[in-house]
Amino acid sequence: MLFKKRTHTCGDLRSANLNEKVTLNGWISGKRDLGGLLFIDLRDRYGITQLKIDPDNKACYDTAVKLGQEFVVSASGIVIKRESINKNIPTGEIEILVEELDVLNESEIPPFVIEEEIKATDELRLKYRYLDIRRKSIADNLILRSRVSQIVHRYFEKHNFIEVETPMLMKSTPEGARDYLVPSRVHKGKFYALPQSPQLYKQILMVSGMDRYVQICKCFRDEDLRADRQPEFTQIDFEMSFVTQDDVFEILEGMFGEIWKEIKGVSLPEKFRRMTYDEAINSYGSDKPDLRITGEMKIENISGIAGGSEFKVFQETLNSGGIIAGIKLSGKEVTRKTVDSLTEFVKKHGFGGLGYLKFNAGGNVQSPVAKFLSAEITDNIKNAFSAADGDTVFILSGEKMKVLTALGQMRLKLAEDFKLTDESKYEFLWVTDFPLFHYDHDEKRFFAEHHVFTMPKDEYLKFLDSRDPAEVESIRANCYDLVLNGHEITSGSIRIHKPDIQKKVFDIIGLTDEEAKMKFGFILDAFRYGAPPHGGAAVGYDRVIAILAGLKSITDTIAFPKTLKASSLMDECPGEVSQEQLDELAIQIVKKEA
Ligand code: AMO
Repeated sequence: MLFKKRTHTCGDLRSANLNEKVTLNGWISGKRDLGGLLFIDLRDRYGITQLKIDPDNKACYDTAVKLGQEFVVSASGIVIKRESINKNIPTGEIEILVEELDVLNESEIPPFVIEEEIKATDELRLKYRYLDIRRKSIADNLILRSRVSQIVHRYFEKHNFIEVETPMLMKSTPEGARDYLVPSRVHKGKFYALPQSPQLYKQILMVSGMDRYVQICKCFRDEDLRADRQPEFTQIDFEMSFVTQDDVFEILEGMFGEIWKEIKGVSLPEKFRRMTYDEAINSYGSDKPDLRITGEMKIENISGIAGGSEFKVFQETLNSGGIIAGIKLSGKEVTRKTVDSLTEFVKKHGFGGLGYLKFNAGGNVQSPVAKFLSAEITDNIKNAFSAADGDTVFILSGEKMKVLTALGQMRLKLAEDFKLTDESKYEFLWVTDFPLFHYDHDEKRFFAEHHVFTMPKDEYLKFLDSRDPAEVESIRANCYDLVLNGHEITSGSIRIHKPDIQKKVFDIIGLTDEEAKMKFGFILDAFRYGAPPHGGAAVGYDRVIAILAGLKSITDTIAFPKTLKASSLMDECPGEVSQEQLDELAIQIVKKEA
């Protein structure tokens, strides 16, 4: 079927094109009848151009009158100056006086109006995602994503990386989250797993001598979803041989530098700030601190000061090995309502109450706990926080991690409630020296904090032979996260390449030789043939795009995302399959989830 092809896109034409004869192809985005004259907004990916239809051109006018929302048309005519300029769009100085108008396709009435201030529910938008993508903001996210991936490919090529595609069907290996399984027809009763990440393959590629590997790849994890987690998501995954942690950092600092420069026109620092995991937890109550908050609002441990008081709650806390710590809110009015809402907040974290000291002008201290504290202790607390009159210090006491986590959350809440976050900033932060293991008190055993191939730091190797939980938990690893504005956007480590160290790590998590062979046999086999020292990381690509696009959730960085219940409303998956398909796979459905 022939149609008149466009000479320009709907975003191209300017005053410089006046009097040119042009053809545009696009979708009808709006139609207005102004006393006989018809004005039409024609939309494509590149923009919107106004078409003007004069009733004197009868053929054109008759076609235009019948046009519905989202019809696809070809319009030819002359570029003329617009009477009322629209400063909001780049083509706003001109319009097309249409001479020929052809309908290329009709559209049913769309289930929602395609506009920026969308009124449709998220469900409806996802069900008709193809219409949602016609909206500029969603299309722009996909265009941004495409631009960033080009920068990434170019950057890694420049640095001598090679792209290798790793399998989508692999052996199920425990990696933290639950695997998505794929049944095999040929090997009945056996399953492939979709990769949670290409971790094992990229390490094997180092054994193969590939030296520098990169891949923008899909990963699949059957885990609880939230705003920054999708069941299938994208990583920039890379691995390097003969490197230390600093080399890995340098590669990513350079990559983010180029992305931010090209996309945002912002020069990032050549080196990003670094902080150990312990410092992050102790000072910010989180392993992904948001450093955009005014004054940083660090947590101070005041056990040494407050412990000197007669206050029973504090005494009990210290006797049971807990801590007393707090954060300071500077120069903001703290009302009864503020205190009530914060008290409610800490109750949700399992605390009976919240202590606070409000330092008013003239040395007056307003506090429910002041009566238990001497003037000296109150003064010392004020000094510990470098608090001035007008500041308030909030205090919690209890088990260490519980206190730090709650204060960390409270820090974020105060920053939000009092608007203390500088939204214009990009605060990149390396969090280093993560623990290698954590002890699970319910299961009574150690688990690898990142993954089982993470290399302990040299000075802790001696504790690999210990079974004292405190010593084992004290082991720090060559393991790091990159945090941006409080979001974990990258995670990685230097890997174990020595079999004796690997065996000790397996021993600690209680993996026998047979189990290790069963779960990781192929990589352990590969490691017997000369594994180079190596390390790498994986960037959470969707999260990076969300931050670049100023989005709170990663959903709209993905063309066809899943809901929080891991389903796709557009193609209605997951779906049932036929009995024939099940028979072929020798699968019997025993019980269906409601
Ligand atoms: P990790 O599991 O920490 O490490 O993942 C790396 C980064 O991927 C992002 N991410 C996610 N993004 C969206 N949805 C999800 N469900 C999701 N899960 C993780 C995060 C995270 O920092 N193989 C290792 C990396 C390595 O050691 O090289 C790995 O996958 O931003």
